[in-house]
Amino acid sequence: MEKKRKIGVLGSGSGSNMQALLDAIEVGELAAEIVLVMSDNPDGYILERARQAGIPAEVIDCAGYQSKFPDHCQERVGKRLQEAGAEFVCLAGFMRLVKQPLLDVYGGKILNIHPSLLPHFPGLEAWRQAIDAGVAESGCTVHYVDAGMDTGPVIVQRQVPVLQGDTAETLHERIQEQEHIAYPEALKLVFAQSP
Ligand code: GRF
Repeated sequence: MEKKRKIGVLGSGSGSNMQALLDAIEVGELAAEIVLVMSDNPDGYILERARQAGIPAEVIDCAGYQSKFPDHCQERVGKRLQEAGAEFVCLAGFMRLVKQPLLDVYGGKILNIHPSLLPHFPGLEAWRQAIDAGVAESGCTVHYVDAGMDTGPVIVQRQVPVLQGDTAETLHERIQEQEHIAYPEALKLVFAQSP
């Protein structure tokens, strides 16, 4: 039997990507186990989803900072992920920039999902950036995390057409459908490359 790879997930919002991973695991498409979910947002629905699935779910205390991810908090998150036995870390709508303290522990093993075809439209609300730029196509990218913002090596991309009449919201919805396919697909590739 294929060995189950242990994953930790960090997110700030609804957690639909984390759910997509859980669903892929459930149907036997992804040989993995989510061992810990952490969120900097105590109200993030991702925590509720995790608890409903019986997965340990913890709030990350960011020492009152609105958007910064202070070093000592990253160290603590790294420690908790290690204690939970996570081999890989999936950022799934996590709104803080991961830097050295966490990269030192999990360098090359942290993945992120971004709602554009990187290197186009890094940063916030990439779907809105795509609408504002008037491009005909956008999509999503799963990539390795390095110290930059949305800059690490690409693992998987999936295209999404921008349709006439699309708003930022309708485009984001369509991109999310592809994200839910792309993330399990990317993890399968990553697992195959790191036996
Ligand atoms: C996704 O669009 C992802 O690409 C971006 O944040 C959103 C998270 O959505 N980084 P969810 O919390 O997984 O539903």
